[in-house]
Amino acid sequence: MSNSQALLTAVDLKKYYPVKKGLFAKPQQVKALDGVSFTLEKGKTLAVVGESGCGKSTLGRLLTMIETPTEGELYYQGQNFLVNDKATTQLRRKKIQIVFQNPYASLNPRKKIGDILEEPLLINTALSAQERKEKVLEIMAKVGLKPEFYQRYPHMFSGGQRQRIAIARGLMLNPDIVVADEPVSALDVSVRAQVLNLMMDLQEELGLSYVFISHDLSVVEHIADEVMVMYLGRCVEQGTTAQIFQNPRHPYTQALLSATPRLSPELRRERIKLKGELPSPLNPPKGCAFHARCQFATERCKQEKPELKSYPDGTKIACFIVEDNEANVQ
Ligand SMILES: Nc1ncnc2c1ncn2[C@@H]1O[C@H](COP(=O)(O)OP(=O)(O)OP(=O)(O)O)[C@@H](O)[C@H]1O
Ligand SMILES: [Mg+2]
Repeated sequence: MSNSQALLTAVDLKKYYPVKKGLFAKPQQVKALDGVSFTLEKGKTLAVVGESGCGKSTLGRLLTMIETPTEGELYYQGQNFLVNDKATTQLRRKKIQIVFQNPYASLNPRKKIGDILEEPLLINTALSAQERKEKVLEIMAKVGLKPEFYQRYPHMFSGGQRQRIAIARGLMLNPDIVVADEPVSALDVSVRAQVLNLMMDLQEELGLSYVFISHDLSVVEHIADEVMVMYLGRCVEQGTTAQIFQNPRHPYTQALLSATPRLSPELRRERIKLKGELPSPLNPPKGCAFHARCQFATERCKQEKPELKSYPDGTKIACFIVEDNEANVQ
């Protein structure tokens, strides 16, 4: 990726949570995120995928500064985003927004849609009441909500409509970047495509960049430009959507993809069954975190942790097997 267009750059982001099991137990650390880097360009979508518990939402919370990283750097157009002065905080609030998975829990049931949508304007801008209402109606129209919904309460809406409301709220301050954490996972399959299409239309119209979090690879194939596959707090494979879907090289990506329903029969693969479960980030295994579940694992995989390496085609992969198979590692 060229650096000139980098909108958001994350460098080695980490989040360790201290946990104590019992009063006299030694405090331990959950390494929920253990060094993740990426570059997001304007108008593009980076999908972050992986099993439950691999650190996707933790990454989303760091990017939107709901939580601060234990370590690492975050830059917005080259500007350090982890500074807590007033100007940076305000810029962050405007430029990066988050849309959550559950549109039932994320909208206040006692507030009308109009008030829910006006709130970010009330807090962050000096717009008049009239200007706020105009802006709300403009964004409601963009996400396909009728003006009369302004006066209604969240319980009067379906899941899909609620997710449109949540997306509209995310757009109120004209962000550049939207972090969408499983935005369609709670929705019926029949309305998923509608919400995904809406997100793609909005991206085109408004030039938005997305960090699209999903445990389900099939959801990201059509929306993502780049895909980052995570395992136990780290990236194990990253590449363009075509690279990841047509030629997955990390055994974990291969297993994830083989379990994903595909439309075209020629892309269907023999199903690789993943044995066991994601190990605990409290007690990460020695060597490659995936070795116990990997059908190709060697003695070395049990002892040493593979680093994320760059390959000539632009992909990044953390796997000794791939390293051995492909001589031209940089
Ligand atoms: N506040 C916290 N304190 C301690 N551990 C936490 C905390 N938040 C998350 N974790 C742990 O960090 C790991 C990553 O959690 P995270 O919610 O980021 O995963 P996820 O990939 O979003 O999973 P899911 O697909 O289920 O949403 C998990 O093991 C989780 O239990
Ligand atoms: Mg999550």
